[in-house]
Amino acid sequence: HRAIGVAVLGLGNVGSEVVRILQEHSEDLEARVGAPLELRGVAVRRPGKDRGVPEELQTTDAESLVARDDVDIVVEVIGGMDLPRKLILSALNSGKSVVTANKALLAEHTGELAEAAELHRVDLYFEAAVAGAIPVIRPLTQSLAGDRVNKVAGIVNGTTNFILSAMDETGADYAETLAEAGRLGYAEADPTADVEGYDAAAKAAILASIAFHTRVTAGDVYREGISNITAADLTSARALDCTIKLLSICERIPTPDGKERISARVYPALVPLNHPLASVNGAFNAVVVEGENAGRLMFYGQGAGGAPTASAVMGDLVMAARNKVNGGRGPRESKYAKLKIAPIGDI
Ligand code: NDP
Ligand code: HSE
Repeated sequence: HRAIGVAVLGLGNVGSEVVRILQEHSEDLEARVGAPLELRGVAVRRPGKDRGVPEELQTTDAESLVARDDVDIVVEVIGGMDLPRKLILSALNSGKSVVTANKALLAEHTGELAEAAELHRVDLYFEAAVAGAIPVIRPLTQSLAGDRVNKVAGIVNGTTNFILSAMDETGADYAETLAEAGRLGYAEADPTADVEGYDAAAKAAILASIAFHTRVTAGDVYREGISNITAADLTSARALDCTIKLLSICERIPTPDGKERISARVYPALVPLNHPLASVNGAFNAVVVEGENAGRLMFYGQGAGGAPTASAVMGDLVMAARNKVNGGRGPRESKYAKLKIAPIGDI
């Protein structure tokens, strides 16, 4: 089979690791896909000699890179909203499959993006958008597609978990630990998204949408961040044999008329020390899924950082590339129903 052309948009924490894996494991990847994956170009804001990619492959013109005839799959790891939306739509509308880690965008525009993918019969994958390296999108959209998921809850933001764990374990300073999370590549370009809970709310919206086969956007999610949590709060929590974690909770709520609503909420909560989520520390994440028949499942691992996130991106890239080689597409989004959102006061 002819080579599969890949465009990587963004060469930051995640993009640089995606390119590294593509380069280091090209032979293995070729064997797994059935065709070589060839990097056609990388979109950056500031091209340069020292970026680990030959200068002739770097461009500041992401739009033209996406439009190239020899690009089959577009990996979007720029972040933001308007530009990636435009680039992803343009890729899908020209028959290219897309892999993205952009939860902020997905939490607003999955409907529009999924429709474009469906219309043009191409793949739109986003395993990396929730909980970094941890496979949670695919289990929900595929493995559990025949069950009824009633609840998805856990820790889905690495930066805030890193901060809360460090404050709890060593009494570390909030601002210093946040800066460290930025240096380690965990924090968003604007860390307000992490500490004020917007990132976790975007992930909750994505999880609720795929778990309950409906459309939930970030604005539907009740949200509180951790910027008001102090060392004294953590000490008080300890006195109660608890710790504090930023939890994202999505669940079906039965209503008295026999119907149901969806509740999605993000807030710092007291977690008893003997609960499995209490020992999820650093930039690790954990997601607990409750299926009517599966019972309780727990997914745990590195939730942020360049290499772990790139691992999830690469999984999606291999899936999309296999489909380019063999035909077909999937996993598809299920047909969805409109479910009502429960205001926080109802639960
Ligand atoms: P970075 O800020 O590290 O990287 C962004 C990259 O995009 C940079 O290489 C930047 O170029 C490039 N870029 C910015 N604007 C443009 C533009 N107009 N045209 C072309 N390139 C541009 O972000 P991350 O790698 O941390 O995150 C990328 C995405 O992945 C985001 O959506 C984020 O939410 C998501 N994500 C991140 C995780 C993480 O742990 N970091 C985990 C899961 C998802 P330059 O380098 O020249 O500035
Ligand atoms: N900023 C995000 C986090 C990156 O800290 O969890 C992973 O999505």
